[in-house]
Amino acid sequence: MDACLCSNGGSNLFLLRMLMIFCFCNFVANASFNVTTIRFNEGLSPLFGDSNLVRSPDGKSVRLLLDRFTGSGFISSKMYNHGFFSARIKLPSDYTAGIVVAFYTSNGDVFEKNHDELDFEFLGNIDGKPWRFQTNLYGNGSTNRGREERYRLWFDPSKEFHRYSIHWSAHNIIFYIDEVPIREVVRNEAMGGDYPSKPMSLYATIWDASNWATSGGKYKVNYKYAPFVSEFKDFVLDGCASDPIQEVLEASNCTKLNARLNAQDFATITAGRRAAMRNFREHYMYYSYCYDLLRYPTPPPECVIISTEQQRFKNTGRLKFGGSHRRRSKRRNKKNLSDFVNNESIM
Ligand SMILES: *[C@@H]1O[C@H](CO)[C@@H](O)[C@H](O)[C@H]1NC(C)=O
Ligand SMILES: *[C@@H]1O[C@H](CO)[C@@H](O)[C@H](O)[C@H]1NC(C)=O
Ligand SMILES: *[C@@H]1O[C@H](CO)[C@@H](O)[C@H](O)[C@H]1NC(C)=O
Ligand SMILES: *[C@@H]1O[C@H](CO)[C@@H](O)[C@H](O)[C@H]1NC(C)=O
Repeated sequence: MDACLCSNGGSNLFLLRMLMIFCFCNFVANASFNVTTIRFNEGLSPLFGDSNLVRSPDGKSVRLLLDRFTGSGFISSKMYNHGFFSARIKLPSDYTAGIVVAFYTSNGDVFEKNHDELDFEFLGNIDGKPWRFQTNLYGNGSTNRGREERYRLWFDPSKEFHRYSIHWSAHNIIFYIDEVPIREVVRNEAMGGDYPSKPMSLYATIWDASNWATSGGKYKVNYKYAPFVSEFKDFVLDGCASDPIQEVLEASNCTKLNARLNAQDFATITAGRRAAMRNFREHYMYYSYCYDLLRYPTPPPECVIISTEQQRFKNTGRLKFGGSHRRRSKRRNKKNLSDFVNNESIM
C-alpha cells in the first residue's frame, strides 16, 4: 500500500486502512467455490504453438510458453451458452515487458463480424514492476466500444497459483480472482447486443504484444529472458455446451442447465463478497472506462457511477498515482486515446 497516504492522513485514516486491508485479506482466505475441476484433455485442446504447449504427465496442468519463435494457446473443445470458466494460473516471473497472457471467452472464430468476448488480459512489466491486468467485454461485434478496466493485484501472480474465473449468465457477468469478485456487469436493456449473448469458447494464450502492453509499447519483449512460462491447472468448464449456430435459435435447450448454474454460489454476490469487491476496486483499480469522459461523454448504460470513485478518477478514468507512477500515467494521458482502444482486441 502507498505509505505516503498513511503519514499524511493521520492515525485514524491509518487505522481505517489497516482495518480494511485486514477485512480484505480475510475475505481472500475464505470459502472456496464448490466447483468440479477437469483435466486438460477432458474439455480443452491446443490452439496454436503446439511445440510451446507442454502438458504435465498427469494431464492436470499445462504450461504455455512464449519464445522467439511463437507464443501458444489452448481453446475449449466445445462452445457454451453461458457458463462458469475458471483456472488456477501462475504467470511468468522477472522481466515480462511486452508479454500478454490472456484468459478469455470468445466466439470470434465463428462470428467474425459480430463476435462476443469476455477478457482477463495480464500485462507484463519490466523487472521489479508488478504485473497489471485488465478486464473487458464485447458483444455482437462492439469492438469500437471497449469497456476496459485496469487494475493492480494484491499479490505477486508469478509466485503462486491463483484462481481466475468468469461467470457469464443471461443476467450478469462476474470476474473473480480467487473468491473475490472484482467486477460485475449487470445486463441492462439499453446495452442491447453489446451484452455477450451467443455461445463462446474458453481460450488461454500467451503472446508478444510489444507494441502496446507495457507503457504503451515503450518496453518490448526481451527474448534474452525466454522462454516465458505461464502455467494453468484445475480447469472448470461448467456451462451449457451448445452448437453456436443452432443454439442462437434454440436457446431454450439450455434453460435447465442455466437454472442450475444460476443457483451456484458464484452466480450471486453476497453482501460480504460485495464488500470485498468494493474494497478491491477502491485500492487496486486504476482505470475505468465508466469515468473516461473523453472517450465516453455519456457513460455506457451498464455503468454504475459511484461518487467516491468518480472523485478519484476525475474525468479521465485514470488514477493519478504518487511518485514514479505519476510520470507514467501522465504519459498515458497524453497519448492518443485511440491506441488505448485499438490494440486491445485479442485476435
Ligand atoms: C447483432 O449483429 C447482427 C449483424 O450485425 C444484427 O443483425 C443483429 O440484430 C445484432 N443483434 C443484436 C442483439 O443487436
Ligand atoms: C435442442 O433441443 C432439440 C429438442 O429437444 C434438439 O432437437 C436439438 O438438437 C437441440 N439443439 C442443440 C443445439 O443441442
Ligand atoms: C489519433 O488517432 C486517430 C486514429 O488513429 C487519428 O485519426 C488522429 O489523427 C490521432 N490524433 C492525434 C492527436 O494523434
Ligand atoms: C496497433 O498495432 C499495430 C501493429 O499490430 C500498429 O501498426 C498500430 O499502429 C497500432 N495502433 C495504434 C493506434 O497504436
